[in-house]
Amino acid sequence: MAVLTSGMNTSEILLGQTLVFPDNPLFEGWQSARHDARGAVLITDGKIAAVGSADDVRRAHPDVPVTDHGDALILPGFVDAHVHYPQTAIIASWGKRLIDWLNAYTFPEEMRFGDKAYARQVAGRYFDLTLAAGTTTVASYCTIHPESVQAFFEEAQSRGVASVAGKTCMDRNAPDGLRDTVQSAYDDSKRLLEQWHGRERLRYAITPRFSPTSTREQLEALGVLWAEHPECLMQTHLSEQTEEIAWVAELFPEADDYLETYEAAGLLGANGLYGHAIHLRERERARLREVGAALIHCPTSNMFIGSGLFDLKGLAAERQRIGLATDTGGGSSFSMLRTMAAAYEVAQLNGYACHPAELLWLATAGSAGTLGMGTRIGSLKPGYDADLVVLDLASTPAIAQRAARADDIWEAVFPTIMMGDDRAIRGVRIMGKVAV
Ligand code: GUN
Ligand code: ZN
Repeated sequence: MAVLTSGMNTSEILLGQTLVFPDNPLFEGWQSARHDARGAVLITDGKIAAVGSADDVRRAHPDVPVTDHGDALILPGFVDAHVHYPQTAIIASWGKRLIDWLNAYTFPEEMRFGDKAYARQVAGRYFDLTLAAGTTTVASYCTIHPESVQAFFEEAQSRGVASVAGKTCMDRNAPDGLRDTVQSAYDDSKRLLEQWHGRERLRYAITPRFSPTSTREQLEALGVLWAEHPECLMQTHLSEQTEEIAWVAELFPEADDYLETYEAAGLLGANGLYGHAIHLRERERARLREVGAALIHCPTSNMFIGSGLFDLKGLAAERQRIGLATDTGGGSSFSMLRTMAAAYEVAQLNGYACHPAELLWLATAGSAGTLGMGTRIGSLKPGYDADLVVLDLASTPAIAQRAARADDIWEAVFPTIMMGDDRAIRGVRIMGKVAV
């Protein structure tokens, strides 16, 4: 635990292996990554004050207490850029593709979130599970109910977790009791963003679920709200499944493609987060690139619901902004380790062996960047918030025996990426404080 040192500062030095990524390895290659086998992170007042070799940092701060994590790897906490916390209790529901999965499992569960006590209970459980998995920031969909947003932000606030959330808006193609209206979507979203956006470490995302569940008028109303509050994020789904894309074409005959349904409503922009983005046309890719929108890769979900293979290499070659996410509970895990493993496997199916540096970067700085938080979290850099995860690289016998053969840090960390779970999470810090 941190203790008081001279003056008013609360400082602590963490020792372990460290990895620092000066560049985006998907754009610039992974070779500039800096590994320190005996590194140190100095935390002062909840922020990273210095990163360097253990010897240098200790010599410069001889009176600061030390927590030695040995060979464990100190990383920025994982950032999960697209989740649905209300789907916590229905994760791993069997047998459906997207639209049937929404109708059979998701919508009945989401109906329950008008009950604030239930929403608080699930939000609390969600944060317990994700912190235990080393995730220190998430961007979550809520439900149509303002109570579900209040519950999420209150639970995030009580833990001091930096997070993004928004009221999910849908005014059609959803059951009775799970639809809002054009006006209530606008009014409720506005009230909630005024209450929560920028409060402590919280941010608001205007959240039309996806084009099939919003009328054109509702998308337009949310586009107006975003224009009034461009500082907020906007999150939605884009081109996840082929059946969904065909349905969008029926519902919006005037639109050239799926992205156009958002663009026409003022819902395309650099602060926009577009989940899945698998079956994109050339025009859509070009527009997303032009505006600097963020594409969120959800690999366990894309395999679990049978959606398709995200073109990580091709999209990175176009210099698209990309984040990584579980998409809990369409995704089959709360863990960003499992999610990195799935991203590796999906890239392999596309003929690309994603480097561990690229996977780790996506799960930290990459996702943080898509949330507009890339200058505060997601990197081991002085001035950044000390949201950290400490990974045991030998957390099970199977991982330990493989890591023992490693010749470098990439070989040492890769078995944990592919086979690691909560047992690999040796510790989690939120603003320097022990959270796990
Ligand atoms: N598209 C619209 N809503 C959802 C959702 O809840 N999960 C997933 N995976 N896709 C969606
Ligand atoms: Zn989703």
